[in-house]
Amino acid sequence: MFEIRDKVFFVTGAAAGIGAGIVRAFLDEGAKHVAALDIDINSGKALEQELLAKYGNDKVRFHKCDVTSNDLDVVYDNVVNDFGYIDVVVNCAGIMNDSPNAYIKEIEINVTALIKSSFKAFDLMRKDKGGRGGTIINISSIVGLFQAHLLPVYTATKSAVLQFSNCLGKEPHFTRSGVRVLTLCFGVTDTSLFSPTKLEAFDKETNELLKSSLVDLPMQKPESAVKGLIHAYKHGETASTWLVTTDRPAEDITGNVTKAYEVMSQGVFS
Ligand SMILES: NC(=O)c1ccc[n+]([C@@H]2O[C@H](COP(=O)([O-])OP(=O)(O)OC[C@H]3O[C@@H](n4cnc5c(N)ncnc54)[C@H](O)[C@@H]3O)[C@@H](O)[C@H]2O)c1
Repeated sequence: MFEIRDKVFFVTGAAAGIGAGIVRAFLDEGAKHVAALDIDINSGKALEQELLAKYGNDKVRFHKCDVTSNDLDVVYDNVVNDFGYIDVVVNCAGIMNDSPNAYIKEIEINVTALIKSSFKAFDLMRKDKGGRGGTIINISSIVGLFQAHLLPVYTATKSAVLQFSNCLGKEPHFTRSGVRVLTLCFGVTDTSLFSPTKLEAFDKETNELLKSSLVDLPMQKPESAVKGLIHAYKHGETASTWLVTTDRPAEDITGNVTKAYEVMSQGVFS
Protein backbone atom coordinates (compact mmCIF):
# COMPACT_ATOMS: atom_id res chain seq x y z
CA MET A 1 0.00 0.00 0.00
CA PHE A 2 1.21 3.51 -0.80
CA GLU A 3 1.43 5.87 2.18
CA ILE A 4 0.37 9.52 2.43
CA ARG A 5 2.20 10.24 5.69
CA ASP A 6 5.35 12.39 5.33
CA LYS A 7 5.06 12.72 1.56
CA VAL A 8 5.21 15.95 -0.48
CA PHE A 9 2.17 16.54 -2.72
CA PHE A 10 1.60 18.92 -5.63
CA VAL A 11 -2.05 19.50 -6.66
CA THR A 12 -3.30 21.70 -9.54
CA GLY A 13 -6.84 23.09 -9.60
CA ALA A 14 -6.64 22.90 -5.83
CA ALA A 15 -8.62 25.95 -4.69
CA ALA A 16 -12.13 24.56 -5.16
CA GLY A 17 -14.22 21.49 -5.85
CA ILE A 18 -12.57 18.08 -5.99
CA GLY A 19 -9.03 19.54 -5.92
CA ALA A 20 -9.62 21.34 -2.61
CA GLY A 21 -11.05 18.10 -1.19
CA ILE A 22 -7.92 16.23 -2.27
CA VAL A 23 -5.69 18.80 -0.51
CA ARG A 24 -7.74 18.41 2.69
CA ALA A 25 -7.60 14.59 2.51
CA PHE A 26 -3.80 14.49 2.06
CA LEU A 27 -3.33 16.79 5.07
CA ASP A 28 -5.81 14.80 7.11
CA GLU A 29 -3.72 11.65 6.53
CA GLY A 30 -0.43 13.26 7.59
CA ALA A 31 1.15 14.66 4.42
CA LYS A 32 4.47 16.40 5.03
CA HIS A 33 3.46 19.25 2.71
CA VAL A 34 0.84 20.03 0.07
CA ALA A 35 1.53 22.62 -2.64
CA ALA A 36 -1.90 23.81 -3.79
CA LEU A 37 -1.93 25.54 -7.20
CA ASP A 38 -4.85 27.42 -8.73
CA ILE A 39 -5.69 30.44 -10.85
CA ASP A 40 -8.40 31.48 -8.34
CA ILE A 41 -6.49 33.57 -5.80
CA ASN A 42 -9.37 34.33 -3.41
CA SER A 43 -10.46 30.73 -2.95
CA GLY A 44 -6.85 29.53 -2.84
CA LYS A 45 -5.84 32.00 -0.13
CA ALA A 46 -8.96 31.23 1.90
CA LEU A 47 -8.21 27.49 1.73
CA GLU A 48 -4.57 28.10 2.73
CA GLN A 49 -5.64 30.17 5.77
CA GLU A 50 -8.16 27.55 6.86
CA LEU A 51 -5.67 24.69 6.55
CA LEU A 52 -2.69 26.51 8.08
CA ALA A 53 -4.85 27.21 11.14
CA LYS A 54 -5.78 23.54 11.34
CA TYR A 55 -2.47 21.80 10.49
CA GLY A 56 0.23 24.41 11.24
CA ASN A 57 2.98 26.22 9.36
CA ASP A 58 4.74 24.60 6.41
CA LYS A 59 2.03 21.97 5.92
CA VAL A 60 0.33 23.73 3.00
CA ARG A 61 1.01 26.61 0.66
CA PHE A 62 -1.23 28.16 -1.98
CA HIS A 63 0.56 29.11 -5.21
CA LYS A 64 -1.22 31.39 -7.67
CA CYS A 65 -0.71 29.55 -10.92
CA ASP A 66 -2.34 29.46 -14.31
CA VAL A 67 -1.28 25.99 -15.43
CA THR A 68 -1.15 27.14 -19.06
CA SER A 69 1.55 29.73 -18.25
CA ASN A 70 5.20 29.55 -17.22
CA ASP A 71 3.98 29.93 -13.62
CA LEU A 72 3.79 26.14 -13.62
CA ASP A 73 7.57 25.71 -14.08
CA VAL A 74 8.26 28.38 -11.47
CA VAL A 75 6.07 26.68 -8.86
CA TYR A 76 7.64 23.26 -9.57
CA ASP A 77 11.10 24.82 -9.07
CA ASN A 78 10.06 26.61 -5.86
CA VAL A 79 8.55 23.49 -4.29
CA VAL A 80 11.63 21.41 -5.16
CA ASN A 81 13.89 24.16 -3.75
CA ASP A 82 11.90 24.25 -0.51
CA PHE A 83 11.37 20.50 0.03
CA GLY A 84 14.02 18.80 -2.11
CA TYR A 85 11.56 16.59 -3.99
CA ILE A 86 7.91 15.96 -4.86
CA ASP A 87 6.40 12.50 -4.24
CA VAL A 88 2.96 12.88 -5.80
CA VAL A 89 1.49 15.17 -8.45
CA VAL A 90 -2.28 15.39 -9.01
CA ASN A 91 -3.22 17.17 -12.24
CA CYS A 92 -6.77 18.22 -11.39
CA ALA A 93 -7.16 21.69 -12.99
CA GLY A 94 -9.85 21.54 -15.63
CA ILE A 95 -12.70 23.42 -17.28
CA MET A 96 -15.77 22.24 -19.21
CA ASN A 97 -16.52 24.87 -21.82
CA ASP A 98 -16.76 24.02 -25.53
CA SER A 99 -17.90 27.55 -26.55
CA PRO A 100 -16.10 29.25 -29.46
CA ASN A 101 -14.41 31.63 -27.00
CA ALA A 102 -13.20 28.96 -24.60
CA TYR A 103 -12.54 25.67 -26.37
CA ILE A 104 -8.90 26.39 -27.21
CA LYS A 105 -8.25 27.33 -23.58
CA GLU A 106 -10.09 24.16 -22.55
CA ILE A 107 -7.66 22.06 -24.63
CA GLU A 108 -4.69 24.01 -23.22
CA ILE A 109 -5.78 23.46 -19.59
CA ASN A 110 -7.20 19.94 -19.79
CA VAL A 111 -4.61 18.45 -22.16
CA THR A 112 -1.53 20.57 -22.94
CA ALA A 113 -0.87 21.74 -19.38
CA LEU A 114 -1.62 18.30 -17.94
CA ILE A 115 0.91 16.70 -20.30
CA LYS A 116 3.50 19.41 -19.58
CA SER A 117 3.02 18.96 -15.82
CA SER A 118 3.20 15.16 -16.13
CA PHE A 119 6.50 15.33 -18.04
CA LYS A 120 7.89 17.83 -15.53
CA ALA A 121 6.92 15.48 -12.67
CA PHE A 122 8.24 12.41 -14.54
CA ASP A 123 11.65 14.10 -15.06
CA LEU A 124 11.91 15.12 -11.42
CA MET A 125 10.85 11.74 -10.05
CA ARG A 126 12.52 9.26 -12.43
CA LYS A 127 14.96 6.93 -10.67
CA ASP A 128 17.12 6.46 -13.78
CA LYS A 129 17.97 10.19 -13.64
CA GLY A 130 18.63 10.47 -9.89
CA GLY A 131 15.02 10.85 -8.68
CA ARG A 132 13.27 8.74 -6.03
CA GLY A 133 10.22 7.58 -7.98
CA GLY A 134 6.72 8.81 -7.34
CA THR A 135 3.11 8.96 -8.48
CA ILE A 136 1.31 11.06 -11.09
CA ILE A 137 -2.50 11.08 -10.84
CA ASN A 138 -4.31 12.50 -13.84
CA ILE A 139 -7.99 13.41 -13.85
CA SER A 140 -10.02 12.14 -16.78
CA SER A 141 -13.80 11.64 -16.61
CA ILE A 142 -16.58 9.21 -17.41
CA VAL A 143 -16.76 11.10 -20.72
CA GLY A 144 -13.44 9.45 -21.54
CA LEU A 145 -15.36 6.13 -21.36
CA PHE A 146 -18.39 6.93 -23.52
CA GLN A 147 -19.21 9.30 -26.38
CA ALA A 148 -20.71 12.43 -24.80
CA HIS A 149 -21.75 14.08 -28.06
CA LEU A 150 -23.07 17.31 -26.50
CA LEU A 151 -19.52 18.22 -25.38
CA PRO A 152 -17.24 16.96 -28.17
CA VAL A 153 -14.19 19.04 -27.17
CA TYR A 154 -14.40 18.32 -23.42
CA THR A 155 -14.94 14.64 -24.23
CA ALA A 156 -11.91 14.66 -26.54
CA THR A 157 -9.74 16.28 -23.84
CA LYS A 158 -10.67 13.66 -21.25
CA SER A 159 -10.12 10.83 -23.77
CA ALA A 160 -6.68 12.33 -24.44
CA VAL A 161 -5.94 12.32 -20.69
CA LEU A 162 -6.89 8.64 -20.47
CA GLN A 163 -4.70 7.58 -23.43
CA PHE A 164 -1.73 9.76 -22.46
CA SER A 165 -1.73 8.67 -18.81
CA ASN A 166 -2.20 4.96 -19.56
CA CYS A 167 0.62 5.02 -22.13
CA LEU A 168 3.03 6.97 -19.89
CA GLY A 169 2.35 4.54 -17.04
CA LYS A 170 3.10 1.41 -19.07
CA GLU A 171 6.34 -0.51 -19.49
CA PRO A 172 9.14 0.11 -20.23
CA HIS A 173 8.59 3.58 -18.70
CA PHE A 174 7.61 2.35 -15.23
CA THR A 175 10.45 -0.07 -14.53
CA ARG A 176 13.19 2.34 -15.50
CA SER A 177 11.58 5.43 -13.88
CA GLY A 178 9.74 4.13 -10.81
CA VAL A 179 7.02 6.65 -11.65
CA ARG A 180 3.50 5.27 -11.28
CA VAL A 181 0.80 6.93 -13.42
CA LEU A 182 -2.88 6.56 -12.46
CA THR A 183 -5.99 7.78 -14.28
CA LEU A 184 -9.17 8.73 -12.42
CA CYS A 185 -12.53 8.87 -14.22
CA PHE A 186 -14.99 10.75 -12.05
CA GLY A 187 -18.73 10.59 -12.66
CA VAL A 188 -20.93 13.66 -12.38
CA THR A 189 -19.87 15.40 -9.18
CA ASP A 190 -21.46 18.37 -7.46
CA THR A 191 -18.93 21.20 -8.03
CA SER A 192 -18.86 24.60 -9.71
CA LEU A 193 -17.75 22.92 -12.97
CA PHE A 194 -21.48 22.83 -13.84
CA SER A 195 -22.25 26.44 -12.89
CA PRO A 196 -24.14 28.18 -15.73
CA THR A 197 -21.41 30.84 -15.97
CA LYS A 198 -18.72 28.20 -16.62
CA LEU A 199 -20.39 25.47 -18.66
CA GLU A 200 -21.20 26.04 -22.35
CA ALA A 201 -21.61 23.99 -25.50
CA PHE A 202 -20.18 24.82 -28.94
CA ASP A 203 -23.37 26.43 -30.29
CA LYS A 204 -26.73 27.77 -29.09
CA GLU A 205 -28.76 24.71 -30.14
CA THR A 206 -26.42 22.27 -28.39
CA ASN A 207 -26.26 24.54 -25.36
CA GLU A 208 -30.03 24.28 -24.91
CA LEU A 209 -29.89 20.49 -25.19
CA LEU A 210 -26.98 20.39 -22.75
CA LYS A 211 -28.67 22.60 -20.15
CA SER A 212 -31.91 20.59 -20.30
CA SER A 213 -29.97 17.31 -20.00
CA LEU A 214 -28.44 18.57 -16.77
CA VAL A 215 -31.74 19.29 -15.02
CA ASP A 216 -32.18 16.80 -12.18
CA LEU A 217 -28.96 15.00 -13.15
CA PRO A 218 -27.95 12.98 -10.08
CA MET A 219 -24.59 14.18 -8.78
CA GLN A 220 -22.23 12.42 -6.41
CA LYS A 221 -20.72 14.29 -3.48
CA PRO A 222 -17.21 15.75 -3.99
CA GLU A 223 -16.19 13.78 -0.86
CA SER A 224 -16.98 10.52 -2.74
CA ALA A 225 -14.70 11.56 -5.62
CA VAL A 226 -11.93 12.41 -3.13
CA LYS A 227 -12.34 9.15 -1.20
CA GLY A 228 -12.11 7.21 -4.46
CA LEU A 229 -8.94 9.02 -5.49
CA ILE A 230 -7.32 8.30 -2.12
CA HIS A 231 -8.19 4.60 -2.50
CA ALA A 232 -6.72 4.54 -6.03
CA TYR A 233 -3.56 6.31 -4.78
CA LYS A 234 -3.08 3.74 -2.00
CA HIS A 235 -3.81 0.63 -4.06
CA GLY A 236 -3.50 1.40 -7.78
CA GLU A 237 -0.93 -0.19 -10.05
CA THR A 238 0.80 1.90 -12.67
CA ALA A 239 -1.24 2.49 -15.86
CA SER A 240 -4.45 1.62 -13.99
CA THR A 241 -7.73 3.41 -14.59
CA TRP A 242 -10.27 4.00 -11.82
CA LEU A 243 -13.99 4.78 -12.04
CA VAL A 244 -15.43 6.83 -9.18
CA THR A 245 -19.10 7.55 -9.76
CA THR A 246 -22.57 7.71 -8.12
CA ASP A 247 -21.04 7.78 -4.61
CA ARG A 248 -19.81 4.19 -5.04
CA PRO A 249 -16.37 3.01 -3.90
CA ALA A 250 -13.57 3.38 -6.45
CA GLU A 251 -13.55 0.59 -9.04
CA ASP A 252 -10.42 -0.52 -10.92
CA ILE A 253 -11.61 -0.62 -14.55
CA THR A 254 -8.20 -1.23 -16.14
CA GLY A 255 -9.40 -4.58 -17.52
CA ASN A 256 -12.35 -2.91 -19.31
CA VAL A 257 -10.14 -0.23 -20.82
CA THR A 258 -7.65 -2.86 -22.02
CA LYS A 259 -10.48 -4.93 -23.53
CA ALA A 260 -11.94 -1.85 -25.24
CA TYR A 261 -8.62 -1.07 -26.90
CA GLU A 262 -8.24 -4.72 -27.90
CA VAL A 263 -11.60 -4.42 -29.68
CA MET A 264 -10.75 -1.05 -31.25
CA SER A 265 -7.38 -2.29 -32.47
CA GLN A 266 -8.76 -5.39 -34.20
CA GLY A 267 -7.36 -5.45 -37.72
CA VAL A 268 -4.91 -2.62 -37.07
CA PHE A 269 -1.78 -4.73 -37.37
CA SER A 270 -3.00 -7.63 -39.47
N1 LIG B 1 -17.35 17.74 -11.39
C1 LIG B 1 -17.46 16.70 -12.21
O1 LIG B 1 -18.57 16.18 -12.45
C2 LIG B 1 -16.26 16.08 -12.85
C3 LIG B 1 -16.40 14.84 -13.46
C4 LIG B 1 -15.30 14.27 -14.08
C5 LIG B 1 -14.09 14.92 -14.08
N2 LIG B 1 -13.99 16.14 -13.47
C6 LIG B 1 -12.69 16.81 -13.52
O2 LIG B 1 -12.25 17.01 -12.20
C7 LIG B 1 -11.37 18.13 -12.16
C8 LIG B 1 -11.80 19.07 -11.04
O3 LIG B 1 -13.05 19.62 -11.39
P1 LIG B 1 -14.13 20.14 -10.33
O4 LIG B 1 -15.38 19.41 -10.61
O5 LIG B 1 -13.56 20.14 -8.97
O6 LIG B 1 -14.33 21.62 -10.90
P2 LIG B 1 -14.13 23.06 -10.21
O7 LIG B 1 -14.48 24.05 -11.27
O8 LIG B 1 -14.86 23.11 -8.92
O9 LIG B 1 -12.56 23.08 -9.90
C9 LIG B 1 -11.62 23.24 -10.94
C10 LIG B 1 -10.49 24.10 -10.40
O10 LIG B 1 -9.54 24.28 -11.47
C11 LIG B 1 -9.11 25.62 -11.43
N3 LIG B 1 -8.59 26.06 -12.73
C12 LIG B 1 -9.28 26.30 -13.87
N4 LIG B 1 -8.46 26.76 -14.82
C13 LIG B 1 -7.21 26.80 -14.27
C14 LIG B 1 -5.94 27.19 -14.76
N5 LIG B 1 -5.78 27.66 -16.01
N6 LIG B 1 -4.87 27.09 -13.94
C15 LIG B 1 -5.02 26.65 -12.67
N7 LIG B 1 -6.21 26.28 -12.14
C16 LIG B 1 -7.29 26.35 -12.95
C17 LIG B 1 -10.36 26.41 -11.05
O11 LIG B 1 -10.05 27.72 -10.59
C18 LIG B 1 -10.96 25.51 -9.99
O12 LIG B 1 -10.50 25.82 -8.71
C19 LIG B 1 -11.41 18.75 -13.56
O13 LIG B 1 -10.30 18.29 -14.30
C20 LIG B 1 -12.70 18.20 -14.14
O14 LIG B 1 -12.67 18.16 -15.55
C21 LIG B 1 -15.03 16.72 -12.84
